[in-house]
Amino acid sequence: KEATLAIIKPDGVLGNHTDAIKATILQSGFKISREKIIQLDKDSASSFYAEHSTKRFFDSLVKYVTSGPVLVMVLEKENAISDWRALIGPTDGSKAKITHPNSIRAMCGTDVEKNCIHGSDSPQSAQREISFFFDTSTSQWFALPLQSPIL
Ligand code: GTP
Ligand code: MG
Repeated sequence: KEATLAIIKPDGVLGNHTDAIKATILQSGFKISREKIIQLDKDSASSFYAEHSTKRFFDSLVKYVTSGPVLVMVLEKENAISDWRALIGPTDGSKAKITHPNSIRAMCGTDVEKNCIHGSDSPQSAQREISFFFDTSTSQWFALPLQSPIL
């Protein structure tokens, strides 16, 4: 099964959208295999969004994602990465309400910045982003005995 990273951003958490988003996730066939609530600081947010460091909106983006707690989750299912991107909808929450009314960003997004949710955009970024927030050595450790000739 494929894994992807989801983040309910501060506007999603503080706007009380967490339960509705999780219900949508489970109804759509994803398993939530790991989750934690954290407060990002300026350094960690800048590092997470490093690909956008030269964009005009970078400082505003870092301020936004550090403005309150975020809920970080690893979601698993077949085709998790592209299916999750489809479920969250387009970047701009105000446009999502018109073009993708059933998307998560239509439900809780406000504009092109405050869009309440994140999803990894490729297998490479999913791997980077999951290990950015979670210790991925644990599941490998659990997998090892199954491959051992002793068992
Ligand atoms: P993520 O799943 O959060 O990565 O969103 P995305 O892939 O749909 O968008 P992208 O990676 O291009 O941008 C990352 C985040 O920066 C977005 O989710 C928005 O919060 C913010 N952002 C993107 N474009 C703009 C913009 O034009 N202006 C502002 N202020 N913020 C933006
Ligand atoms: Mg992105």
